[in-house]
Amino acid sequence: MNSLLPSTFSLLPSPSAFLPHHSHGFSYLASPTSFTFSNKERRCLRNDGPVETAPKFELKPPPYPLNALEPIISQETLEYHWGKHHRAYVENLNKQIAGTDLEGKSLEDIIVISYNKGDILPAFNNAAQAWNHDFFWESIKPGGGGKPSGDLLKLIERDFGSFERFIDELKIAATTQFGSGWAWLAYKDNRLDVGNAVNPLATEEDKKLVVVKSPNAVNPLVWGYYPLLTIDVWEHAYYLDFQNRRPDYISLFIDKLVSWEVVSSRLEQAKVLIAEKEKEDERKKREEEEELLTGGSRAQMYPYSDAEGIVE
Ligand SMILES: [Fe+2]
Repeated sequence: MNSLLPSTFSLLPSPSAFLPHHSHGFSYLASPTSFTFSNKERRCLRNDGPVETAPKFELKPPPYPLNALEPIISQETLEYHWGKHHRAYVENLNKQIAGTDLEGKSLEDIIVISYNKGDILPAFNNAAQAWNHDFFWESIKPGGGGKPSGDLLKLIERDFGSFERFIDELKIAATTQFGSGWAWLAYKDNRLDVGNAVNPLATEEDKKLVVVKSPNAVNPLVWGYYPLLTIDVWEHAYYLDFQNRRPDYISLFIDKLVSWEVVSSRLEQAKVLIAEKEKEDERKKREEEEELLTGGSRAQMYPYSDAEGIVE
């Protein structure tokens, strides 16, 4: 299962878990507002304590040979795209976080922390691009394409009307992303589409598939969504093979390369994570209610203690 999702990073605490491998679980992503940085913190994320050697992120090869996606994506493209661009993101990230408070954290943690509610910190671009590319390589396979089945197909038909309409929407997102960026299929359990907003009254109806596009390195993790599929529309992904014909690249990518088995597996894992998150939220809510009740009882037992103290 872990081969289905980004698992490049030996640092990750739970390599078999779904996309957010971070040590705090996915609920961490649901409350990104907990991260705030003062100006001082922005300047000084660097540790002053003794230098510890944390494991570095590693560049993992795609789960197929570099010539396996031909003739759609050439070996030469993979040699540049994975061998140089992806490698640079990982290497630069390791340099950027060395000796800072981010060192030793999972990649997903680094992404959410350094996204910083849209006011991004220096490590964000390399961290997100390292994650995005792993996710991208694992989204496709030689001989992919076709049509999904099972729950994924049912949800696609429910949320987009039909598989064909979904594909149209995905193609539009990928072709209209201005400049560099990504197109995504993601699963969300939050009605709000505004940045890091948290829906206080989430319902079952909020859970749905969405197509979104994102500029540069941004990915749906920063909004608390569960990414299922991505298309890299940076020019480095297709220019050697398609030059400026981005729509042709996108069509062939969808028709011949997407691994719907991987996308289905990610959806199932997202559902499990959401169920766990809901269970945890429910537990916290019960605890808070019990705390309130207990506090209330104490207050009623000694309602006049202050006044009595005054009399004495
Ligand atoms: Fe790329």
